[in-house]
Amino acid sequence: MAMTDIFDRLVQDHNKHRKLIKAIEETSGDSEERRSLYEQFRTDAKAHASAEEVTLYAILMAEVEMREYARHAAADHHEIDDAIKQVDETDMASSGWLAKFKTLKETFLDHLKEEEETIFPDARRDLGETKSVRLRDAFNAIKPEEIERVEAGADDKIAEKIG
Ligand SMILES: [Fe+2]
Ligand SMILES: [Fe+2]
Repeated sequence: MAMTDIFDRLVQDHNKHRKLIKAIEETSGDSEERRSLYEQFRTDAKAHASAEEVTLYAILMAEVEMREYARHAAADHHEIDDAIKQVDETDMASSGWLAKFKTLKETFLDHLKEEEETIFPDARRDLGETKSVRLRDAFNAIKPEEIERVEAGADDKIAEKIG
């Protein structure tokens, strides 16, 4: 059997995010449960995207045939960040919150599908096993740092400065 590579590792995160989305949809109002599940989802999804960008997509960006995928994924990540911001800015107790969350969910799940069905299979073929396994290690090393960064609100502060 092939070794776990970065693509298997990324899909593990995707499945965790899908489960969290489902659980969030079953919550209602401004509850402890909704807060905690959304916080987990938000932190892990953001850290995942950042770690993905500095490992997999940084490599793909350097390859002419794969560059378009890297650009497209970065645009998707940006769109997801905007949708997250919309949810953040909505009162959790209002009925509008779940509507905003559903918009985020659609954008988010479309992106996962595209990665899993198109980008990852092509990239795996392009990179080969050795590089793909090495990238898994890089991803695993960076992800906890990205989680800390998101928890510290570093990305929001940067966004405020730019925006
Ligand atoms: Fe991903
Ligand atoms: Fe992604």
